[in-house]
Amino acid sequence: MLVSAEKMLKDAVAGGYAVAQFNINNLEWTKEILLECEELKSPVILGVSMGAAKYMTGYKTVVAMVSAMIESLGITVPVALHLDHGNYDAAKACIEAGFSSIMFDGSSLPLDENIAKTKELVAICKEKGISLEAEVGGIGGEEDGVVSTGECADPNECKQINDLNVTMLACGIGNIHGKYPANWAGLQFNVLESIKAVVGDTPLVLHGGSGIPDEQIKKAISMGVAKVNVNTELQLVFADATRKYIEAGKDLEGKGYDPRKLLAPGAAAIREEVKDRVSVFGSANRA
Ligand code: G3H
Ligand code: ZN
Repeated sequence: MLVSAEKMLKDAVAGGYAVAQFNINNLEWTKEILLECEELKSPVILGVSMGAAKYMTGYKTVVAMVSAMIESLGITVPVALHLDHGNYDAAKACIEAGFSSIMFDGSSLPLDENIAKTKELVAICKEKGISLEAEVGGIGGEEDGVVSTGECADPNECKQINDLNVTMLACGIGNIHGKYPANWAGLQFNVLESIKAVVGDTPLVLHGGSGIPDEQIKKAISMGVAKVNVNTELQLVFADATRKYIEAGKDLEGKGYDPRKLLAPGAAAIREEVKDRVSVFGSANRA
């Protein structure tokens, strides 16, 4: 059964660790993430961008696939199905389709509009027992067509959105989606500190979790980050393992072209990466 992310994130804040949000794109991603998190006894959040949902033929398909897989694989750890960087219409559609968690990303809107729409969605989500993530200050870079300049969030704006009673809050602190450039300045811990000071115990979300040095991630977790989003890293390890399989000519041996064989090295690489991230975030044996 899908659950809201509220309890798992409150537990993470209290326990000083973070829950991973791994973004899914298809059946293989979903299966490997679920199996590894079950093995590690870790709660997990499955993130679905608007683009990934479209690729998987829609929100209802995603809910049906994930729910059925949780049952057929015998998954017992808490799993939240979360819309990632959704606009207002997508948020409404996901609530309707049966998602257990929503991110409404109003960071590109004027603040008063972000506040008004977030407020409306908070009320709907509270009534339905769905967790809601809001965003202040863009996360730099591009993800599935959602582009942002990546300015650090203003703590005063964070407080205004936080006061709407959101479940969790994403705020730009120098983090970037996709690969980090060689000259990246690192996370801005002074900004994180100022934000933490005005949001109390609200779990903070670190987007762009791929490629941030582990020490910086651990420091951010110690300062109030309770959810770390990872997408690009899983894509990179999957692509790398698949490329090696093909370059070694294994797709030409026997029935190596069978998609169940062709996709197996990438799937195994996803599992390894999930294990590694969960160990860094500290959420193993917390379910
Ligand atoms: O919303 C999703 C994440 O922020 C993923 O970022 O692709 O850099 O890991 P990433
Ligand atoms: Zn993100």
